[in-house]
Amino acid sequence: MNPAPNLVLVGPMGSGKSSIGRRLADRFGLAFFDADREIEAQAGASIATIFECAGEPDFRARERIVLAGLLAGEGAVVATGGGAVLDARTRELVRGRGFVVHLHVDVAQQLERLARDRSRPLLAGDDREQVLRRLAEVRDPLYAEVADLRFDTAAMAAAETAVKLGHLLDARWQMSVPATGAHR
Ligand code: S3P
Repeated sequence: MNPAPNLVLVGPMGSGKSSIGRRLADRFGLAFFDADREIEAQAGASIATIFECAGEPDFRARERIVLAGLLAGEGAVVATGGGAVLDARTRELVRGRGFVVHLHVDVAQQLERLARDRSRPLLAGDDREQVLRRLAEVRDPLYAEVADLRFDTAAMAAAETAVKLGHLLDARWQMSVPATGAHR
């Protein structure tokens, strides 16, 4: 049983972090936050516009600041963006302030789920499959580095995944403030 004040979902685009996170928050009676939406609200601009006008490094800095704010308190379920783990300070932050679940999904499933999506700047080009494979190569070890639990969403719908994950979390996650400020 790992104590941590918040629940954090990491994983690639299309792994269901937001839809599963919202359901888990309902189940545990906690507040849900989607870091991407918070970044957009604070910037007054879409993620695509931030990438285009300020660049990815600026987006990653905004992401880190927003996550630090969301995780400063207790009792939040936070869906992070797929690339949040790229930033070492963000990795340290989510590990220190959350029980971290890595939602895994394979590339074929991602392609299916994201087929109609036009909002993600990293998928604006033609070869989505190649991009997703390249991102997974770089990011999978980082998801593993921060995760307390890895959960394969496979072909399951969000509702089913949330029920199964909720049961696992009952046994694995204790919502509390770690005595040392870090739970591992
Ligand atoms: C990104 C994933 C997106 C969003 C941005 C960058 C990434 O979030 O933060 O487009 O680098 O993988 P989702 O994982 O919620 O799609």
